[in-house]
Amino acid sequence: MILVFLGPPGAGKGTQAKRLAEEKGFVHISTGDILRDAVQRETDLGKKAKEYMDRGELVPDELIIALIEEVFPKHGKVIFDGFPRTVAQAEALDKMLENKGLKVDYVFLFDVSDNVVIERLSGRRIDPKTGTVYHVKYNPPPPGVKVIQREDDKPEVIKKRLEVYRKQTAPLIEYYEKKGILKKLDAVKPIEELYKEVLGVLENGN
Ligand code: AP5
Repeated sequence: MILVFLGPPGAGKGTQAKRLAEEKGFVHISTGDILRDAVQRETDLGKKAKEYMDRGELVPDELIIALIEEVFPKHGKVIFDGFPRTVAQAEALDKMLENKGLKVDYVFLFDVSDNVVIERLSGRRIDPKTGTVYHVKYNPPPPGVKVIQREDDKPEVIKKRLEVYRKQTAPLIEYYEKKGILKKLDAVKPIEELYKEVLGVLENGN
């Protein structure tokens, strides 16, 4: 089964994808996580991607498509989190899957307003040792866990990321709606409730 998690920055895609991967055996492919790791390790990809990420812009399609071809697992159930983010990426994914006799089964759209995005991203904290994502209010880190804030969670970069989402990524809503595989989630709901909704779709198709 192939899933795509689509939605604005901070909508909660990663939170749900990580849990689904842990509990239901999906391979979680987050282009954001892979790119941040590449930046930290100062690989060729990381050096090329850093300036775009710092500005809140998208990394060029050709780099992302090559990356996905490289990390695509040979077997198993997959969640693409934060990919595709442009129509060109979506078309490349369809082609890649077609060559393997596969297709995207469901696209979950995490639908939230800009105000929710701003609140979630400004309160997000990460444990750099484990990568666990917390929120100061909605999912606070346990006492004693040292957390950091992501560089691109600063107010001016959040604003840019929202603009980029609207312009370059939101057209994918129509792209997947036309294929009849888009499942819209009211992502303002609590983490637990959303998780149950995702499971409902996977188990019963609605
Ligand atoms: P990426 O890392 O993918 O960032 P994003 O899409 O902006 O998504 P986020 O990770 O910010 O948010 P999320 O939806 O996963 O939310 P989370 O679960 O953490 O990309 C970063 C950059 O990399 C991009 O700007 C771009 O430069 C580049 N990039 C990546 N992929 C690319 C691609 N395909 N093409 C080109 N460039 C690419 O939740 C957010 C917070 O809210 C957390 O604190 C969490 O605890 C809390 N929370 C989650 N759910 C809930 C809930 N239901 N209720 C209350 N709080 C909640």
